[in-house]
Amino acid sequence: MPEARRIAVLVSGQGRNLQALIAACADGRIAGRIVLVLGSRADAPALDRARTAGIETRALDHSAFADRERFDDALAAALDAAQTDLVLLAGFMRILGAGFVRHFAGRLLNIHPSLLPRHPGLHTHRRALEAGDAEHGATVHFVTEELDGGPSIIQGRVRVRTEDTEDTLAERVMQDIEVRIYPQALAWIARGDLALREGRVLLRGKPLPAPLQLDDLEAPFR
Ligand code: GRF
Repeated sequence: MPEARRIAVLVSGQGRNLQALIAACADGRIAGRIVLVLGSRADAPALDRARTAGIETRALDHSAFADRERFDDALAAALDAAQTDLVLLAGFMRILGAGFVRHFAGRLLNIHPSLLPRHPGLHTHRRALEAGDAEHGATVHFVTEELDGGPSIIQGRVRVRTEDTEDTLAERVMQDIEVRIYPQALAWIARGDLALREGRVLLRGKPLPAPLQLDDLEAPFR
């Protein structure tokens, strides 16, 4: 059993994913603890959730830095100072540069609200509706230099309903999928079950031919 992992979560928004990760750490599902929540803006509600849970927070405003590299360097320095093993992007609205991604390669995860490789980028729920997709969902993936393009670990799907709006679809993806698959992926990586090797995802040493599907798990997180 590896030592308890030191986890940092990067946020910009509401923090519903963060809350699910906090809950999973608190009830022992994760072999680790969240040591730092770092916000790209001081007024992110997610930072309040972290403070309420007694977790150290920091805000780093990108506009205070001359360029993206200096922002990334400050971010990496804050994470290293907290002796972070794992970094989870949870609604973090800044694009991270190649140097940052390389520094944290294999220990940097993101959650994206679509069934990647469909709909990378922004406004995923609107685009799924506009495309007439029958299914939509969310994906947890390793972060590489390609935006929303790193190897996928786990996905969960919802059926798109004819009456769905962007908001109802977003809400279902969040409540039914996101808050389940992110704690699950964190549990695996914190236990040492998950690794990124030569661009491929290994689960317990075996390459994943395709992302795991929430519905196929024998004992999925609830
Ligand atoms: C989530 O939908 C996440 O997938 C996306 O941004 C949203 C963040 O929501 N990257 P929250 O801050 O976790 O509530």
